[in-house]
Amino acid sequence: MVDLKSQYEKIKDSVNVYIQEVLDTNTYINGPQVHQFQKSLEEYLDVKHVIPCANGTDALQIAMMGLDLKPGDEVITADFTFAATVEVIALLQLTPVLVDVDMFNMNISIEGIKKAITPKTKAIVPVHLFGRAANMEAIMAIAKEYKLYVIEDNAQAIGANCKFSDGTKKKAGTIGHVGATSFFPSKNLGCYGDGGAIFTNDDALAHKLRGIVNHGMYERYHHDVVGVNSRLDSIQAAVLNAKLPLLDEYSKARQDAARKYSTAFEGHKNIVAPSICSICDCHVFHQYTLRIIDADRNGLMQHLLDKGIPCAIYYPIPLHSQKAYADSRYKEENFPVTNQLVTEVLSLPMHTELDDEQIKFITDSVLEYLG
Ligand SMILES: Cc1ncc(COP(=O)(O)O)c(C=O)c1O
Repeated sequence: MVDLKSQYEKIKDSVNVYIQEVLDTNTYINGPQVHQFQKSLEEYLDVKHVIPCANGTDALQIAMMGLDLKPGDEVITADFTFAATVEVIALLQLTPVLVDVDMFNMNISIEGIKKAITPKTKAIVPVHLFGRAANMEAIMAIAKEYKLYVIEDNAQAIGANCKFSDGTKKKAGTIGHVGATSFFPSKNLGCYGDGGAIFTNDDALAHKLRGIVNHGMYERYHHDVVGVNSRLDSIQAAVLNAKLPLLDEYSKARQDAARKYSTAFEGHKNIVAPSICSICDCHVFHQYTLRIIDADRNGLMQHLLDKGIPCAIYYPIPLHSQKAYADSRYKEENFPVTNQLVTEVLSLPMHTELDDEQIKFITDSVLEYLG
């Protein structure tokens, strides 16, 4: 699905220089490279505070710990996402409230959020799924009306812009009270191991989060809050320092590949491709995900795999049907879109190194099967 080797070949010299610097300075944890990355990312995102941490799951957990949510508080999130989002809600003994997504953008349904709010609701966690920004304008309006926190799960959409009706744009992840991202190697900004970060414009919250990531310490061996050990190591920060200046170029390469895929599939009766109007900087195509309608999606997947084309179903099971998160509160009729999407979605290879020949082979192979 990704081609990290070819990408590395192109940036090898700069990555190696950055990594060598870590080895030369012998500061493997919280070294100057981590600080440099933090500052560069704050500037790129135009956000006051970036708090690097060990991975995207920790980033979500620490963000929620920083907001002082209490066991039993209800946290609304999408039914159609990777499990990490709901996992941390459950781990913190908060009550996950899963809601359906919109068919058009596969992101959390605004109507679904409104219907799910109760007096116990304390937060909303929108996920910018597959690289496409959720409707943050509507979500922030709901949050304001009901006095809820918004924690953006931006693991899949770093670099995407959210557009507002007054014409302004802000980077996904920087609009809610706090945002969380992942630098897992296959992510749009990926390091060569695990990594993550939390973003906020709130000074007091940023201070708290900086303590939580480091055992609740602000001064060595003084533990002021309950924390965790979640640090971005200097070697991962070195890789990210080499890659961050290329992020916009990488997003463009993904958008170009998506446009070529969608052009080849245009008008096909069995394919719903991500819409062309969304192929702009509000979608950075972490995944290029088709809906295959009135056709054998699994047969198509096998056909592609047989031809050596990687493809995958993100995600095959709605979270409300997962053993760990199933609950009698959930009624099937409340999840018509997610239940449909899990039977239709198919993600094609998407990365920064796709060339025209590869795209043609992939699109021809899809069309060969579907006719
Ligand atoms: C939507 C979403 N949230 C959170 C995460 C967790 O990130 P990590 O794997 O870095 O813990 C992922 C990772 O795949 C994700 O896709």
